Amino acid sequence: MYSDFAPFYDVVQGGAAEAFAGWIERHAGESGPSRRSVLELGCGTGAVLERLPANWTKVGVDVSPEMLEIARIKRMDAEFLTADIRSLSLGRTFDVVACVYDTINHLPGSDWPSVFATAAAHLADGGVFLFDMNTLGRLRGDAGEEHTTEADGTMVSMRIRDVGDDRYDWHVRIERAGTVVEDTISEYAIALSEVGAMLEDSGFTRVEVSGGRDQPVGDDARRLFFVCRR
Ligand SMILES: C[S@@+](CC[C@H](N)C(=O)[O-])C[C@H]1O[C@@H](n2cnc3c(N)ncnc32)[C@H](O)[C@@H]1O
Repeated sequence: MYSDFAPFYDVVQGGAAEAFAGWIERHAGESGPSRRSVLELGCGTGAVLERLPANWTKVGVDVSPEMLEIARIKRMDAEFLTADIRSLSLGRTFDVVACVYDTINHLPGSDWPSVFATAAAHLADGGVFLFDMNTLGRLRGDAGEEHTTEADGTMVSMRIRDVGDDRYDWHVRIERAGTVVEDTISEYAIALSEVGAMLEDSGFTRVEVSGGRDQPVGDDARRLFFVCRR
C-alpha cells in the first residue's frame, strides 16, 4: 500500500493538506503559548506537517518507508519515524496529536482503540487529539462508482469496491507523462456510535464531532471531524 503511489501522492491530493493544517492550527491555538508540539499519526509525505508553523516541534510517524522518503526529501524541520501507529510508544507527549485524511480508515475497526490509546498516551495535559474519518455512508454510497480527475497533467481514476466485512478497496490508477501506476488501498468504516464508545473507553470524555462546513453529523455525512480532549 502506497509504495508505488508515494511519488504521486502530493500531486493528486489538491488542497487537502492545506485545509487539514488550518484545522489543526485553529484547534491548537485556543490557549497558551503559540509554540506547539505536534505528533502526526500516519503523516505520509509530511504534506500537513510542512504547512504547520515553522516554530512548532513536529514528529511524523508512518508505516510506509516510501511515503516517509518523500517527506524527508522536503528537508523540513521535523522528525520522521517508521512505525505502526497501533503500537507506537515514544515516551513523550505533545500538545496536539493528529491523525488526518482518513488515516484511521486504513485500519480495521477492531484496531481503532489501539490508535486512540496511542493518541491518549502521547497527549500532554490539556492537549487535543484531532482526527477525521470517512463514514460508513460515504464508503457504502461510493462503492461501485468510478471517479476520474485531471490536474497538472496527471490523470487519476479511483474505483471503490465493497469487499465485505466493512472493508472497501480503493483501486487507484495514476497516469502521468506516459507512466501508469496502480495501487489498491483498503479502507474500513464503522458506525459513529461505535467510534464514540471507543473514544470514551480511551479516556476522551470531551469529544466534538462535526461534518465540516455545516454538514450534518451522522453516518450519512461524507467525512466527520473529531476534536477530542480528556
Ligand atoms: C491517506 S494517507 C494520509 C497522509 C497524511 N496524513 C496526509 O494528510 O497527507 C494515510 C497514511 O496512513 C499511513 N498508515 C496506514 N496504516 C498505518 C499504520 N498502521 N501505522 C502508520 N501509518 C499508517 C499510510 O502509509 C499513509 O501514509
